[in-house]
Amino acid sequence: MAVAELATIGHPLLRARAAEVPQERLATAELGSLVRDLGDTMRAHDGIGIAAPQIAESERVVLIEIPQDSPRYPGAQAEPLIVFVNPVLTVLDACEQGYWEGCLSVPDLRGLVWRPRAVRVEYQDLEGRDCELLAEDFLATVVQHEFDHLEGVLFIDRVRDTSKLATVDNYRKYWLEDSEAAP
Ligand code: NI
Repeated sequence: MAVAELATIGHPLLRARAAEVPQERLATAELGSLVRDLGDTMRAHDGIGIAAPQIAESERVVLIEIPQDSPRYPGAQAEPLIVFVNPVLTVLDACEQGYWEGCLSVPDLRGLVWRPRAVRVEYQDLEGRDCELLAEDFLATVVQHEFDHLEGVLFIDRVRDTSKLATVDNYRKYWLEDSEAAP
């Protein structure tokens, strides 16, 4: 197990566009090792998604895995691990939904972010196979949050109403019951 150090807000690589993973890097031990480190780091911090720039690796690699009863996102529907390489996102339903988001790279902060409610993702898996995922509801928000990391965008950039920013404690105390905006 290799838990990497998290890059947190202020780290320049969180604000950079991450590089495409070259085709010759697919199905290599090096890429497998990066993905293992990302998974170990995500789970060590109870995250439900992580992008390579969050461990200061500027590559277009994202993991999403939502465990049953996630401590950080208790109401979220479980999703098995998905590894996305070079993902491309298309909005399928621009109608927006609001969720209180957090980020391992932005410690102790939650914010209400509105995003399109359904997306399609075309991506490659670790072996280089072409894959597609249709995501809606909370999973669509998680996908868009993680892919923003590949463009150097953080969720706080998308908080339109800054009165809807809160520490995790205050989120739980004042906002969690706001059913439209949970989890
Ligand atoms: Ni994040």
